[in-house]
Amino acid sequence: MHKATRNFWLDGALFLALLGVIISSLVIDNKDPNLLVWGLSRPSWVIVHIVAAVTMLTGSTLHLVWHWDWVQAVFARAPRPRPQAVRRNRLVDLWLFGLGLLLAVSGLLIWPLSGNLDEGNPLAAAPLLGMRVYDWKQLHAWGAVLMFGLLALHLALHWKWIVTTARRVLLPTPAKTGAATLAEE
Ligand code: HEM
Ligand code: HEM
Repeated sequence: MHKATRNFWLDGALFLALLGVIISSLVIDNKDPNLLVWGLSRPSWVIVHIVAAVTMLTGSTLHLVWHWDWVQAVFARAPRPRPQAVRRNRLVDLWLFGLGLLLAVSGLLIWPLSGNLDEGNPLAAAPLLGMRVYDWKQLHAWGAVLMFGLLALHLALHWKWIVTTARRVLLPTPAKTGAATLAEE
C-alpha cells in the first residue's frame, strides 16, 4: 500500500477516536450521578471515554512511529535553521506529545475516584502525589482543552494534505489507458 494511503486511514481512525473522546468528555463533564444520555449511564460514559482515549493515544503512538524518519530529521543537528513551517509543526507535535502523556497519567490517577471528583466532595480532597485528587482532575480537564485546540491546529496545518489525499484515495480514478498501465508495470 502507498505510504500516504496507509497514513490516511490511520489518521481517519485517529479522528474517529478523537470524536469519541470529545463527545464522552462533554457528557462526563456533567456531574449528575443519575445522568442518562443515549441510553447510557454516566459510569458507562466514563468507560466509553477511557476506551476512546486509550485508542486515540495508542493510535497516536503508531502515528508517531510511522513518522519517525520525519522526527529524526527535524530534531537532528543542522548547519542552518529549519524553515518556519517545519519549526512550527515540530513545536505543535512536541506539545501534542507532552499533553498526551499528561492526559494519560492524570486520567489514570483520577479513574479510581470517577464520579466523586466535584469540589467539596471529601474524596476529591484526598491527597495524591502532592496534589488533591480534585487538582489532578482540573489538570486533566484544562490539559484536554489545550489538547483539543492544538489538535485542531495540527489538522489545520495539514489541511492541504488531507484534502489532496482524500481526493486521491476516496474518489474513483479515471480508467487507465493501456499505455499508462504498461508504463506502470
Ligand atoms: C489524534 C488525532 C490526530 C490526527 C487526526 C492527526 C492527523 C495528522 C495528519 C493529517 C498529518 C499529516 C499527514 C500524515 O503524514 O499523516 C499528521 C502528521 C503528523 N502528526 Fe498527527 N494527528 C493526530 C495526533 C497526533 C499526535 C498526538 C502527535 C504527537 C505525538 C502527532 C504527530 C504527528 C507528526 C510527528 C506528524 C508528521 C510531521 C508533521 O508534518 O507534523 N499527531 N497528523
Ligand atoms: C488513558 C487516558 C485517559 C483516561 C484513563 C481518562 C480518564 C478520565 C476520567 C476517569 C475522568 C473523570 C470522570 C468523572 O468525572 O467521573 C475524565 C474526564 C475527562 N477527560 Fe479523560 N481520560 C483519558 C484521556 C483523556 C484525553 C486524551 C482527553 C482529551 C484530549 C480527555 C478529556 C477529558 C475531559 C474533558 C474530562 C472531563 C473533565 C471534567 O470533569 O470537567 N481525557 N477522564
